[in-house]
Amino acid sequence: MGTIDSVLKENRLFPPTDDFRVKANVSGMDGYNALCDKANADYAGFWGELARELVSWKTPFTKVLNEDNAPFFKWFEDGVLNVSYNCLDRHLDARGDKTAIIFEADDGAVTNVTYRDLYTRVCQFANGLKSLGVQKGDRVVIYMPHGVEAVTAMQACARIGAIHSVVFGGFSAGALRDRIQDAAAKVVITANETVRGGKTTPLKAITDEAMSLGGCDSVQKIVVFQRTQNAPEKWDALNIWWHDLIQGQASECEPEWMSAEDPLFILYTSGSTGKPKGIQHSTGGYFLGTQVTMKWVFDYKENDVYWCTADVGWITGHSYIAYGPLGIGATQVVFEGVPTYPDASRFWSMIEKHKVTTFYTAPTAIRSLIKLGGDLPKKHDLSSLRLLGTVGEPINPEAWMWYYEVVGGSRCPIVDTWWQTETGANMIAPLPGAAPTKPGSCTLPLPGIMADIVDESGAPVEAGKGGFLVISKPWPSMVRTIWGDPDRFKKTYFPEDYNGKLYLAGDSAHRDENGYIWIMGRIDDVLNVSGHRLGTMEIESALVANPLVAEAAVVGKPHDIKGESVVAYVVLKNARPEGDDAKRIAKELREWVAHEIGKIAQPDEIRFGDNLPKTRSGKIMRRLLRDIAKGAEITADTSTLENPAILDQLRQSAI
Ligand code: WTA
Repeated sequence: MGTIDSVLKENRLFPPTDDFRVKANVSGMDGYNALCDKANADYAGFWGELARELVSWKTPFTKVLNEDNAPFFKWFEDGVLNVSYNCLDRHLDARGDKTAIIFEADDGAVTNVTYRDLYTRVCQFANGLKSLGVQKGDRVVIYMPHGVEAVTAMQACARIGAIHSVVFGGFSAGALRDRIQDAAAKVVITANETVRGGKTTPLKAITDEAMSLGGCDSVQKIVVFQRTQNAPEKWDALNIWWHDLIQGQASECEPEWMSAEDPLFILYTSGSTGKPKGIQHSTGGYFLGTQVTMKWVFDYKENDVYWCTADVGWITGHSYIAYGPLGIGATQVVFEGVPTYPDASRFWSMIEKHKVTTFYTAPTAIRSLIKLGGDLPKKHDLSSLRLLGTVGEPINPEAWMWYYEVVGGSRCPIVDTWWQTETGANMIAPLPGAAPTKPGSCTLPLPGIMADIVDESGAPVEAGKGGFLVISKPWPSMVRTIWGDPDRFKKTYFPEDYNGKLYLAGDSAHRDENGYIWIMGRIDDVLNVSGHRLGTMEIESALVANPLVAEAAVVGKPHDIKGESVVAYVVLKNARPEGDDAKRIAKELREWVAHEIGKIAQPDEIRFGDNLPKTRSGKIMRRLLRDIAKGAEITADTSTLENPAILDQLRQSAI
């Protein structure tokens, strides 16, 4: 790890304005330190108090944390609640007529949904699911366009105690099939089509294809939301329209009262092996994580207009669209489209139109918008903004400064939030009225989050030295297990190297002299492409499944806008292709990967070789492949390489 010390030196400090600090939910570093002291003095008491303050319980818990079966921790285990009740019912008296969702469709059409409307929609759809036989504990796969119905479907599952598994609408039939099969889903909810950037994708046809791949016998019904007028090609007894399902359903639905430890959802994410992991989240602890971070990190105020640009297919869309903002009673913008359609001022005109106060997006979107029109924000009135956020990958200081000055008018704090699918909620981020920010650093752990940076032996590393990012105490919104694979959960996140005591995040990081944390990147074979997690092994398995391919290795390469791009080294069963042949096969392989996993996993670059650089014991030397991809000089020791001549060939063969 000694070799990965960061070269980034960034000393500019941006404290919150006095005005922001004075009004903030946590005000000043004194406020932050007081919370940390409280957590340190009485960890269970600290979380117990927050859980009583921010969550409505049907039956209050008597015990906060149970560590008996570590690392299978239990939080608030004898408490009883329902998350949909917390997101809807509890707001009806005070906020029934308040707008819950300002939905803006791809074509710009706007629909306002009040808390009472959303409550009715969720109850009717929940009753619809019940009429299909969906019960507490059943799994429901949601493969839908980003929009009000996707949120409704998630909330309806939560209401009746069904466990949802949302599959991002950009994933392919193969990826959808794997997720349906792994969770043995009873119902799949989809739409005839999605519309993004003016283009449609036939979700229903992809769902049919997933079903035809086999292994989906658990599915008893496919509910289809009609997003466009185009009729699906196929329609059979398994299918039912969303609008037919809710027809005549009662507009009230008694929530299913859940134990705090009952699973709320599964969300699949890439790891370092070929098979995505079903990250299982709890009801009580997860929901608390979303609420406490809405309050602290997003400094939520009753009059805010909050906008998180993620898709519900990712964890950010779960915690900071479907649950966090609704739980706290916010008005939020939900946007169906893409930042560059009809042009690169879409975000800025939406902020102006809806008077957005709190804006949360990804560094990759910021970088692409700088490139496509760095001056465009200036043409819009963005004075409603008071807080900005980023998530998904490290933000480079240049992009940070642009976001701060051009979008935020140098008055809005930026919360750079580090967290993961597994952590459920923000973990390391500045509290915006407290911590002075530094461009590129996610700053300090939240109160009650015991983050540390350690070496191979688990000992904390000194300031400035790179190490492994770990969390040394359980926290309420943490992953509970990997669906159906508790051993993998233990091995991946609580490895024996640290006596099973530390949660290993899979990121490397370092602390600077102020104790600020800088995330350096993944330490495992996971790529971060446009803020999306992709397993190199997953892409390799997809490539090798192609009949032409004998062997494949995938690495990441730094990319200006996407953060990382995908480079695939491929050995064919036949001779190494050249010229037009190579181009044709590369195109075919890209389409193949898009079909097997989804477009987001397509290799940006393919290099054909007679073989791959391997050690004498047969291990692929990925470090060399990374150097070649970058076009960097190979300084690494190649003496263990069995076939050194291959390096020149691979260097010359980029397509
Ligand atoms: C990376 C997304 C630097 C990190 C919420 C992590 C970040 C992975 C940041 C999780 C950040 C996320 N700064 N890196 N602010 N936020 N990451 O599960 O490598 O899709 O492990 O969750 O994204 O990705 P995931």
